[in-house]
Amino acid sequence: MAAPTHRLLLLALACALCAAAAGDPRTAVAGQSCAPGSAVSGSVLADNFVPAMDDLNSNVSANGFGTSAVGARGPNTVFGLGQCHRDLSPLDCKLCFAEVRSLLPKCYPRVGGRLFLDGCFGRYANYSFLGEALGPADARVCAPGNASNPRGFADAARAAVANVTEAAVRGDADGYAVASASAGGATAFALAQCWGSLNATACGQCLRAAARAAAGCVPATEGRALYTGCYLRYSTRLFWNVNATAGSGSSGKNGVVWILVGSFLGAFVVVLIIAFLAWKKGILRRKKQSKSFIDMYGGGVSVRIAQSSLNFKYEELRKATNYFDPANKLGQGSNGAVYKAVMPDGKEVAVKRLFLNTREWVEQFFNEVELISQVRHKNLVKLLGCSVNGPESLLVYEYYFNKSLELFLFDASRSRKLTWDLRVGIIQGIAEGLSYLHEESETRIIHRDIKASNILLDDKYKPKITDFGLARAFAADVTHLTTGVAGTLGYMAPEYVVHGHLTEKADVFSYGVLVLEIITGKRCSGSIGSHGGQALLTKVWKHYKDNTVETIIDPIIYKDTIRDKVLHIVQIGLLCAQANPGDRPTMTKVVELLRSHKHDVEIVLSDPPFLNVEGVEDMKQGEQSRLLSAHSGPSVSGSSRSYLNGR
Ligand SMILES: *[C@@H]1O[C@H](CO)[C@@H](O)[C@H](O)[C@H]1NC(C)=O
Ligand SMILES: *[C@@H]1O[C@H](CO)[C@@H](O)[C@H](O)[C@H]1NC(C)=O
Ligand SMILES: *[C@@H]1O[C@H](CO)[C@@H](O)[C@H](O)[C@H]1NC(C)=O
Ligand SMILES: *[C@@H]1O[C@H](CO)[C@@H](O)[C@H](O)[C@H]1NC(C)=O
Ligand SMILES: *[C@@H]1O[C@H](CO)[C@@H](O)[C@H](O)[C@H]1NC(C)=O
Ligand SMILES: *[C@@H]1O[C@H](CO)[C@@H](O)[C@H](O)[C@H]1NC(C)=O
Repeated sequence: MAAPTHRLLLLALACALCAAAAGDPRTAVAGQSCAPGSAVSGSVLADNFVPAMDDLNSNVSANGFGTSAVGARGPNTVFGLGQCHRDLSPLDCKLCFAEVRSLLPKCYPRVGGRLFLDGCFGRYANYSFLGEALGPADARVCAPGNASNPRGFADAARAAVANVTEAAVRGDADGYAVASASAGGATAFALAQCWGSLNATACGQCLRAAARAAAGCVPATEGRALYTGCYLRYSTRLFWNVNATAGSGSSGKNGVVWILVGSFLGAFVVVLIIAFLAWKKGILRRKKQSKSFIDMYGGGVSVRIAQSSLNFKYEELRKATNYFDPANKLGQGSNGAVYKAVMPDGKEVAVKRLFLNTREWVEQFFNEVELISQVRHKNLVKLLGCSVNGPESLLVYEYYFNKSLELFLFDASRSRKLTWDLRVGIIQGIAEGLSYLHEESETRIIHRDIKASNILLDDKYKPKITDFGLARAFAADVTHLTTGVAGTLGYMAPEYVVHGHLTEKADVFSYGVLVLEIITGKRCSGSIGSHGGQALLTKVWKHYKDNTVETIIDPIIYKDTIRDKVLHIVQIGLLCAQANPGDRPTMTKVVELLRSHKHDVEIVLSDPPFLNVEGVEDMKQGEQSRLLSAHSGPSVSGSSRSYLNGR
């Protein structure tokens, strides 16, 4: 057997095993439809839309089902519903629904939309639709090809669909069931799921109609009924997560078990054979210790990683953090917790324990780390390396004594340490760091999540931007979608929240919000149900217009003698936070503006400068050309990523 064949087989096995361990969130899009009407006022709809989606996200993540209603009785109330299919594990549910959350806004600013993924469902509308079981948008989707044994499969599929329908509406089934059936040498698998908002009567009504529709697809290899109150699918293959099906009364349970036992036995035998061949060829003999799976499938890659100075040993890092002692925890980032670690040579570093499992993407992940570690600038936190060979992936960063800007800015006693001059220095430093990321570094990087907690301060209060660059590596793993659109509400540019358009200008917007936070000392709350980040922007804009800016500047730093300078910075902040990305300056321009004085430049702000979502529609094609997608890694869930990256 030739070596490349080995590797291919191992790779395939690795994927199969990883998939089995992690479950399958089934994020393939089965269908999407948008309501015909458009919102009267896009910006008012956005006020409710974003928090409604957020509410829904947290409820679905927690319970597998959720509803939300924001903006009660207003003209632009947003009602939402989300449902994960019952076989998804909590993590898979999060992943699946995060995908819904990032794709459903495609319908915006229409007044409603629904999105069926194969593992979950999401819908929003401007009226309460929770009891609806059937509707004019109900549809079925059949695969183009027929089963190889059409006659036998047709019988099997009809039986499975009928079985699953009856099983799901039975009293104790809670609107969910899976079943398989065999006939004439063919086996069919089916799944039925009603939304949690329906009572048993309505669920039965929906599923029976859906079953008739799906049965119409027979003998196509796949049939899906995408109905107002339910989802039903049959297939030639076992597509659900088997773990959770035990106990949900399926006639094909034994069959499934045997298929599983068979495939695991088969896999085991294949592993044995390959291990033997590999051993014979000396692949495993080279090193004395038994190797982990990654080492095996990584082949030449693992050698490169092992020899790289960026590679840290998992055990060493674990010890250096005192076994991830909570006392050493520095903070919780969007992708994982950060710990302080003291290396054997006494050097202090920060270790980030990644919540996502990058095992399937070791090579690509490592490539990203290599790339990012070459990005060096005085205002960027240095990435020192990573560990990819342990049970979880770790990143190693430079350690800064002073922790994050957030801890200083919004703390009554610590914020006193941040004098006017220090704050100007921080504002300037962040601009320079971002300008470098956007335009000067070899790997052009969009940060995506600029906020106070992602700015660390060194012992001289110089800012260091952290958490940049790896968003792309995470994009290779669907897990990055756990936060929906990556980023923090309140700091996020409207075109990114609503349409998922991602350009450098989204960072400029976040930067503008951050600048205003730094000089007002007030948080842009991304709190659900309020106007989110706009509250601060609205306030600053109002005072700017009324020429009373001094009343909202942090009293700790304000003196009449610096009024002009303050005004200059407020203008820059507002300029960056304009709704239309085309109106925002580049970071290089911002650096230039910051260095100049108020009298040297005149800044013209369009009115109003912030969340006016209609302005987003005017985004020019040119703006979209500088999108991240150009250098993204391999596609995992193509549709979502291409959308996230701007279609
Ligand atoms: C929902 O929006 C449509 C289109 O704008 C409008 O005709 C309808 O009256 C709205 N429904 C409610 C309940 O506001
Ligand atoms: C979200 O979930 C919580 C806890 O289950 C529940 O109390 C709340 O009513 C839900 N919110 C909505 C809007 O359904
Ligand atoms: C599968 O079952 C095991 C043991 O019952 C459980 O720990 C695990 O969370 C389950 N996985 C899924 C995806 O439900
Ligand atoms: C079930 O829900 C439907 C729609 O909301 C309603 O019309 C019907 O009365 C309900 N049936 C029962 C038995 O509660
Ligand atoms: C699939 O089977 C149906 C019904 O037997 C037949 O009408 C159709 O042409 C077949 N399609 C293909 C692609 O073979
Ligand atoms: C499932 O289908 C088979 C074959 O058509 C039938 O014998 C069996 O009774 C059905 N089971 C249920 C639970 O409906």
